[in-house]
Amino acid sequence: MGDLLSEATIEYVTSVKTWQFQQTIASPDELINLFNIKEIDKEWSFEDFKKSETGKWTHDYHRYPAKFIPQLVEKLIDEYIFYKDAYINDPFMGCGTTMVTAISRGFKASGTDINKVAHLITKVKSTPINPEYLDRKIRQLLSKLKFLDENQKAPFDERIWPLVPRKHIDRINYWFTEKNKNELGKILRVIYDEEDETIRDFFLVAFSHILKRCSIWLQGSTKPTRTKPTKNLKKKPVKPYEAFRNHLKKMQRGNDIFYDEVPANIKENLTKYLNIKVGDARKQPVSENSIDLIVSSSPFVTSYEYADLHQLSTIWLEFADDLKEYRGEFIGTSYKKYEHKRLKSKIGKDIVVKMTKKSKKMAKEIEAFFIDMQEVFDESFRILKHGSRCCYVIGDTKLRGIDILNAEVFAESLQQSGFKLDKIIKREIPLKILPQKRDEKTGKFANNHDANSEAYPIEYIVIGLKG
Ligand SMILES: C[S@@+](CC[C@H](N)C(=O)[O-])C[C@H]1O[C@@H](n2cnc3c(N)ncnc32)[C@H](O)[C@@H]1O
Repeated sequence: MGDLLSEATIEYVTSVKTWQFQQTIASPDELINLFNIKEIDKEWSFEDFKKSETGKWTHDYHRYPAKFIPQLVEKLIDEYIFYKDAYINDPFMGCGTTMVTAISRGFKASGTDINKVAHLITKVKSTPINPEYLDRKIRQLLSKLKFLDENQKAPFDERIWPLVPRKHIDRINYWFTEKNKNELGKILRVIYDEEDETIRDFFLVAFSHILKRCSIWLQGSTKPTRTKPTKNLKKKPVKPYEAFRNHLKKMQRGNDIFYDEVPANIKENLTKYLNIKVGDARKQPVSENSIDLIVSSSPFVTSYEYADLHQLSTIWLEFADDLKEYRGEFIGTSYKKYEHKRLKSKIGKDIVVKMTKKSKKMAKEIEAFFIDMQEVFDESFRILKHGSRCCYVIGDTKLRGIDILNAEVFAESLQQSGFKLDKIIKREIPLKILPQKRDEKTGKFANNHDANSEAYPIEYIVIGLKG
């Protein structure tokens, strides 16, 4: 039994009601009480870790909102996996923190993300490349692009025709100056000349990472905001070639260290160990009773529109025909509502009822999020082996003055999917990737100066056990 049970049992003896965790499914009230009395576990804050440690190996290849730190995944693996041939899963891979960690330990790894940019980043981050080979390929690429280097004083090479996707040309024109658009187009053309897919994808991740800095997207802003020609909001987009070259070099250093870390059997036969797909979290590419541990962090309801956040990469890499349709496939998006599906969680229903009085639209979005997540938990139950666990990282929040008890709803839904609630860990987020504040009205993360509420200063790891 997890330590939640003994701890909670002791705490409950002193409370109004004595509740036998071991035998009973926790009722909604008991769950809420359980979260209320839960204390922060400092061991899970990882506050002494430096950026160089949280961004080690390939973890700093690409910025990604709300990614978790590798130390968290490593600690969960240390707690629950004691054998060699483990199989780890993450239905919401994001930029692949769980996959990279699993591969570094010599484990099999599988997962999905609906975001094609996330899939590309995860694939590249989880693929160690022979350092000498990579070095040769990077040199070749940079020599073809040398004419873009201002210090080289080489004549402007008109022979390379910029590859600027026509499909979303309006969006590209909206976000990029003419000069940067053309320079990026030339870099992209040369990248696509590379025949080795592994190397091409490596280059594409570097390309994708620099897009924001090369655009007029306000740098401090996670959501799509264009720089304004006013004093403090003016941004000078960086020069693509230099940003690209510098980032490639940084990625190369990360790859070299990661390459030494990954066991030889995995490097020799990666496709046998890494099974990742662009796809929905409710349908994992694995058979039932096959997974030893799930470590995941779900999207947050109405906080990040991942489809919008990665739109620069999506348009340049032509990952979506119709951006609007693409958005609707994301869980936690504000573009979704259900008419014919039923929310089971009582805690979730209470939140929806309260929110309906403030905003019917937002209530529908929250309801859709909880319904999607209950289906994700059903899928987690299907794929896990008996005696194995799923660990979901999630924070509570407040919207329009109403407490959105995501973690409590997750705990209840996990039970409804068949899990025993094994443990709840409450942790602080000192090294925050998340912005400090959110706009309480819209629920969106926002810059500190225009937001009015704390964004997830603490979060929970809700752990379910398939008995
Ligand atoms: C909080 S992030 C995960 C971050 C990840 N733990 C990491 O370290 O990078 C949530 C992810 O869920 C993905 N997502 C949203 N809807 C999805 C769906 N229907 N199926 C699979 N993934 C989805 C988003 O694209 C996003 O990458």
